[in-house]
Amino acid sequence: MCGIVGYIGEKNAVDVILDGLHRLEYRGYDSAGVSVLRNGALDSVRSVGKLAALEAKLEANSLSGSVGIGHTRWATHGVPSEANAHPQHDDPHAIAVVHNGIIENYLELGAELREKGFVFRSETDTETLAHLIRLYFEGDLFAAVKRALQDVRGAYAIGVVCSDDPEVLVAARSGSPLVVGLGEGESFIASDATAILNYTREVLYLEDGQVCEIRRDGYTVHDLRGAPQRPEVQTLDWDQSQAEKGGYPHFMLKEIHEQPEVVRNTIGGRISEDRSEVVWEDGLLDASLLETCERIMIVACGTAWHAGLVGKRLIESLAKVPVEIDIASEFRYRELLIPPNTIVIPITQSGETADTLQALRVAKDRGAAILSLVNAVGSTIARESDAVIYLRAGLEIGVASTKAYTAMLAALVLLAVDLGRRRGALSEEDANALLTELQQVPAKIQEILDKQGTILQCAADDRFRDAHSALFLGRGYNLPTALEGALKLKEISYIHAEAYGAGEMKHGAIALVTDKLPVIFVAPRSGTHEKIISNIQEVRARSGIILAIATEGDTGIAQHCDEVIYIPDCSEPLSPILAAVPLQLLAYYISVNRGCDVDQPRNLAKSVTVE
Ligand code: G6P
Repeated sequence: MCGIVGYIGEKNAVDVILDGLHRLEYRGYDSAGVSVLRNGALDSVRSVGKLAALEAKLEANSLSGSVGIGHTRWATHGVPSEANAHPQHDDPHAIAVVHNGIIENYLELGAELREKGFVFRSETDTETLAHLIRLYFEGDLFAAVKRALQDVRGAYAIGVVCSDDPEVLVAARSGSPLVVGLGEGESFIASDATAILNYTREVLYLEDGQVCEIRRDGYTVHDLRGAPQRPEVQTLDWDQSQAEKGGYPHFMLKEIHEQPEVVRNTIGGRISEDRSEVVWEDGLLDASLLETCERIMIVACGTAWHAGLVGKRLIESLAKVPVEIDIASEFRYRELLIPPNTIVIPITQSGETADTLQALRVAKDRGAAILSLVNAVGSTIARESDAVIYLRAGLEIGVASTKAYTAMLAALVLLAVDLGRRRGALSEEDANALLTELQQVPAKIQEILDKQGTILQCAADDRFRDAHSALFLGRGYNLPTALEGALKLKEISYIHAEAYGAGEMKHGAIALVTDKLPVIFVAPRSGTHEKIISNIQEVRARSGIILAIATEGDTGIAQHCDEVIYIPDCSEPLSPILAAVPLQLLAYYISVNRGCDVDQPRNLAKSVTVE
């Protein structure tokens, strides 16, 4: 997640770009930069840290020009540093590129370009694009970008300027968002429309595979092969508070909708082309430890703990390593038996949760190797770990975590497959099939987001909306999904909610079932599907109100339930990613319908830095 802005017109591009970048800082803020064309030359200023640091540098630099691009970064490839900040440049320093996304084949392309004599100055995947565009440049930037992108695999939204073709700004998109703004004698690009709403409300959203040449007085859109495209121009009708939320009424809803892009980012570049390898850009722990470790311990809090519960199942079934999982606040206060050869995995969105940090420190003192899953780059937990898998979910603002959760699950699938292969526990065929399916998950999440009818209907139904209590039930991989669904509902709608293993319900929770109790079964296709159908019958016999999350095509389940929300088919280890999404939406819309403060629910904090 990074933010990009571009401008071509009569104003000073630097002012317009900085204004836009401020509105996109939610997408990342570990470094920033801007490039403008002035008197036939390309001038750039880049800086580590938030935008304020860039602005301070610009004051001393007085950059100006009427064509330019800017970027605020959330590091994915390469540490936050000036060399890795965007814009990235080609060799003669005539082309500048800003990029949001991941170029998956950047190592391959980089090797070919180095052989041709291109010199690289950063650790970024983006620099590859700058050199590639230079390779194909013959005086026409639009043509060179179209040609270069034919060689590229991965996700991107890019903005490009070039001092050898100074009257255009070129933009392209595949998998990462990009909007083009159309003004009077000026045009803009941005990662989202909030960045340019001060200047225009006429926009067009580029589709995947489209490249746009933007001039002061208009634009041309082609596909990568040069076929003309006609995206529809839209007029936005947003007020300012909506604008900060990218047109959504709440950050939580925006973040739920970002999940296809987020999962694409989390796995982007980490699966080799033939899927024979999981590639960790910064390496993992020592290979022999990964191959021989006898125990893994996961520590986390809240939603991250639920992700850890899925992680335990993934690692145990795919890599056959025993996994213990602890709530971080319990971990350090129990008799800890940490044998040699143990890997401890803290999972955390913020990287600052005090309980998780203390658990990490205790485990480190006892000699465990620390491999953390962290969203916030450079956070304390990331710094104190031996190795880090970054989640690349971008800044999460809604207190109820959504996109960080699905990113955690996607990263855990990658980790479990990698461990399974290294340890010979997972066949090549199964590993390949799972990774293939994982690559289809973003599109499947999008399908769920596109079909919210039943979710909206349930959230407006007084049996759910006005309930005093709700029960969430699941089994196996989706017991954690039930826990996460219950947590989402109680966090933001204040409806008391409990989650249970569906098979355990008969040992206690069944006493709560009446015709007033909504019971939400997380029941996608699984090895225990018949058992869960029996559990549904048990609730039905006691008149509970039954809502099931089930797999598309499972029409049989409908006869046992009051309502069914269908999710696309997928294999069991991936089903928690998909099943979480309707539960997030259900909690969200129930909360809205109850008039609750979705983004800042009472008593909660986004990051809890006290024990
Ligand atoms: C707080 C938040 C939760 C989050 C938990 C752990 O309680 O409200 O949404 O899951 O902290 O946070 P972390 O940043 O460590 O993932």
